[in-house]
Parts: sequence; C-alpha cells; structure tokens
Amino acid sequence: MQPPWTPDGPDLVVHGDNLPVISTLPDESFRLIYIDPPFNTGRTQRRQALTTQRSTEGTRVGFGGNNYDTIKGVLYSYDDTFADYWEFLEPRLQEAWRLLDDRGTLYLHLDYREVHYAKVALDALFGRDSFLNEIIWAYDYGARATKKWPSKHDTILVYVKNPKNYYFNNEEVDREPYMAPGLVTAEKAARGKLPTDVWWHTIVSPTGKEKTGYATQKPEGILRRIVQASSQPGDWVLDFFAGSGTTGAVAQALKRRVVLVEQNAAAIEIITSRLSNETAFAKVSA
Ligand SMILES: C[S@@+](CC[C@H](N)C(=O)[O-])C[C@H]1O[C@@H](n2cnc3c(N)ncnc32)[C@H](O)[C@@H]1O
Repeated sequence: MQPPWTPDGPDLVVHGDNLPVISTLPDESFRLIYIDPPFNTGRTQRRQALTTQRSTEGTRVGFGGNNYDTIKGVLYSYDDTFADYWEFLEPRLQEAWRLLDDRGTLYLHLDYREVHYAKVALDALFGRDSFLNEIIWAYDYGARATKKWPSKHDTILVYVKNPKNYYFNNEEVDREPYMAPGLVTAEKAARGKLPTDVWWHTIVSPTGKEKTGYATQKPEGILRRIVQASSQPGDWVLDFFAGSGTTGAVAQALKRRVVLVEQNAAAIEIITSRLSNETAFAKVSA
C-alpha cells in the first residue's frame, strides 16, 4: 500500500488501519506527531513469554540504551490489560519515532489507567533524555465519584526526537488568565500568563459549535497549544488516530500541513466536513 503522500503535495487523510499506512511514509518527514489512541483496542492476542521475564539482564538494548525487553516484561507481569494495549501501540510508536524529524516532538494522549505504565515503557524505548513533559489536562465535567477523588484529568506525555535540537516556542501559545490578576501589573494581566504543564480546559461543550458528535473528540484549545508550541507554519503534522479530525482542523487553521489516518468510516465523514476542500483523501484496505 502506497498512500499518495509527498512533502510538497496536499494535506492528506487516509482511511484505513494506521500501521501499514504510516510504515510507508518516509523517515523524518514530520515535525509534530499527536496521537490519542483508544485504550480498548479490541485485541485478544496474548502476549509472549516476556510476561515471566524478571531478569535484570535485558534482552535488547532500546533507543535509550535501556534493557527495554526486561522493563516491558516486568510491566506486563503487573497488568494484563496494559500488555495487550502496549503490544498494539508499540510498533506504531516505533514508526512515530522514525517519522519525526530531528527537531520533532511526539505528544501521546492517555488517561490515568495506562499513563504510568506507558511512561516507564516509553522511557525505556526512547530514552529518558527524550522525555520533555507530562502535561495534565484538567477538566471539570460529568458525574463525580463519591468513594474516591473523582478522576477529572487526562495526561499527555511529550517526547522529543533529539533532546539537544527539538523545536519549542511557547511565545506562540495562547496565554491564559492569571488566577490572581490583582497581584500583577495591569499590562501583565491583560497579556495573560504562559501556560504551565497543567492545562485547565473545558471538554468539548455538548451544546457548543465545536461539537461534532464524535464521542472521543478532544477540544481544539488543547490541540492549538500543542501545534503552536511544537511546530511552525508550513511544517508537517501527523495524527494517525485521527478520530473526528481535531488535529487536522487546528493544523489547517494554523497554516500547518497535515496527514491524518483513521480506520472508522463514520469518523472519516466528520473529518471531511472539518477540513479544507484542498485536502486529498485516500482509502486503503487492510
Ligand atoms: C480516542 S479517538 C481519537 C479522537 C481524536 N483525538 C479527536 O479529537 O476526535 C481514537 C481513534 O483511533 C481510531 N483507531 C483505532 N485503531 C486504529 C487503527 N489501527 N488505525 C487507524 N485508526 C484507529 C479509532 O477509530 C478512533 O477514532
């Protein structure tokens, strides 16, 4: 399968399973990759003998010089669900790494159930030096648990391809209001403050104009910050778990170029309605 993508061609949406699609894209073609994979991948395939591996001797040296297989084996022995999830995600993350250019950044959007395992596995796979941030997206919506602290945040892990050369410009990012504007000058209060790694942001409003009806749609405000900080106009952005196409809509509005991959036909229809008419579409069969 060869998706019709070239760096001087149009933005592209591909309908199909992401792994074979991204495997054909050329090395180091993207400045920014954002992915928001579903936790429940529906896979039933069992993991390998790695489950029982608790040796301190690693079997493979990972990107960061770590004993990746050993670390993975230990994680798998703690959490079966994570093992299934990671076996699905790992080859896709390896492709993501290959596809990032030397100044590129990967944003991996997760929730509290998998993020701690994923952080350890990613550190081992890519190297701790490449870890840039753990962004907490905090929201306040929906029912509240009464037997524990209600879980009202997602986590976005941020890894860079080259810790000595990555692109990051928070001057371009939408600023946020000071919590106590009376404590700073009027000029500062009017300008707002730079966001930290904790982002308070509403979910997509069920009645707002941004809503597409896609259940896992993420807010454009979250994607705007990511795209603004980690890419420049003209750069290529990739999202291969595109869902409703939020990354594409934001990237195009900010004059970036974009490739989206998504396997769900209903999502592709929503993406089509959100992107410019100049976008190319391709369908690949599994
Ligand atoms: C959590 S949603 C992404 C939501 C998106 N960030 C948004 O704002 O709409 C994950 C998406 O990944 C898609 N997906 C899951 N497995 C896939 C695969 N192997 N190839 C392509 N897309 C896949 C699902 O259909 C789903 O739409």
